[in-house]
Amino acid sequence: MHILIIGTGYVGLTTGVVFAYIGHEVTCLDTNREKIAQLQAGKAPFYEPHLDELLAQVGGRMRFVSSMEEADLAHTDVVFIAVGTPSLPDGNADLTYLRQAAESIAEAMDDHFLVIVNKSTVPIGSGNWVGTLIKDAYEKRNGKKVEGKFAVVSNPEFLRQGAALHDSLYPDRIVIGSENTHGVETLRELFKPILQQNFTPPAGLPRPEGLQEVPLLVCDLTSAEVIKYAANAFLALKISYINEIGHLAQKVGADATLIAKGIGLDSRIGERFLNPGIGWGGSCFGKDTAALVATAKDYNLAMPIVQAARDVNYHQRTWVVDALQDALKILKGKRVALLGFSFKPDTDDLRDAPSLDIARLLLQRGASVRAHDPVALENARRLYPDLGVRYCAQVDEALEDADAIVLVTEWPMYRELDWEHIKPVPLVDGRNFLDRERLSALGFRVIGVGR
Ligand SMILES: NC(=O)c1ccc[n+]([C@@H]2O[C@H](COP(=O)([O-])OP(=O)(O)OC[C@H]3O[C@@H](n4cnc5c(N)ncnc54)[C@H](O)[C@@H]3O)[C@@H](O)[C@H]2O)c1
Repeated sequence: MHILIIGTGYVGLTTGVVFAYIGHEVTCLDTNREKIAQLQAGKAPFYEPHLDELLAQVGGRMRFVSSMEEADLAHTDVVFIAVGTPSLPDGNADLTYLRQAAESIAEAMDDHFLVIVNKSTVPIGSGNWVGTLIKDAYEKRNGKKVEGKFAVVSNPEFLRQGAALHDSLYPDRIVIGSENTHGVETLRELFKPILQQNFTPPAGLPRPEGLQEVPLLVCDLTSAEVIKYAANAFLALKISYINEIGHLAQKVGADATLIAKGIGLDSRIGERFLNPGIGWGGSCFGKDTAALVATAKDYNLAMPIVQAARDVNYHQRTWVVDALQDALKILKGKRVALLGFSFKPDTDDLRDAPSLDIARLLLQRGASVRAHDPVALENARRLYPDLGVRYCAQVDEALEDADAIVLVTEWPMYRELDWEHIKPVPLVDGRNFLDRERLSALGFRVIGVGR
């Protein structure tokens, strides 16, 4: 099939590469010309494991363009919208990019049937809104009815950055939401190799043992939109729940990592997303929980559980700085090293990264901050040049004469540091990731989360 993907971010580009890998012809459109130029030169515009290799492998089946005219909509079967939907200050999603994408489709549409798939995470009801935008724009331009010429489908994305290709090749499920039978059947056909798992896995991305087929849930469009928000909110609240238990554990002298194991072994609960730590970050959980709360408000509903998950999460960032202040007594004039700056390992993404808030709070309280990260510093220098943090390409430079250390992101390299030769100082292990016994034996005062 011929596929057009609008937006070549983490979701759009990953989706495009995977569709090309399983045999489809893919055009990726992005209004950011710099990104497109990079992609035309064969380079991914962000860090994601295996992406560069797979891009090289599928080369001939992918095209990168920066305008709808070049995209050739006339020969396209399915359009995926994968543009950003960032938060507005009131928590609602900013739909500017979605509107632009929908209108650009309407302007270029001819009379052949088009399946328009919303892969962006969009507020409940946006599928209908996209349909109306396209209908209105098409009818205004062409002076005739658009009935029967397109279908809008919701296909929410559940990938994790850092494992984006793995998650797209071997998803836990695929959700297709639409009332239009042709739209649903087209997507079923498009995803067939993924659903049936009958493609040869790419090098370095082996198929999980025992995976023979991927479950498909076909539902109405609105339910598909709610599924995405409900899934992210549930994962977010699991994280906040164990962090809340962690604070109690610390007071009563228990260990939240053991509590997490003890409750996670219950198959009704499950062990994943129960790691006590400094909480979630990234482009999704914060934005999607805020949007869920804002949508509920439109219907005079409160979402106290989701709101509490948010409050607990953002409190974790202050907790780190308070814990350091407790340990050092005075933060003013102290030098703090942050190990890790990206919101999680295996990505250079800094959206809603806890490191940013922790750095700001430390600076406000008069500390100086040096930060290291194996891949995110280029983004940090570009996006936050005036934050006041010294970005250190070498970890030794970040740790030099540090009065305290905070492990912010659990990059494996931090476990392997030559800890014997690092001055033992108070160390907040924000992910309960380092070898506590070993570091304590070396004289570090290790402050774990919930322990
Ligand atoms: N990142 C994730 O882990 C993840 C996971 C699941 C779902 N999502 C959702 O998927 C959507 C995309 O997320 P992302 O992280 O890939 O975003 P991103 O910001 O990395 O990428 C969005 C891209 O869309 C482009 N764009 C914006 N308007 C455009 C237009 N009119 N035409 C063409 N291109 C346009 C931007 O230039 C950008 O490159 C969001 O709604 C997000 O919530 C993200």
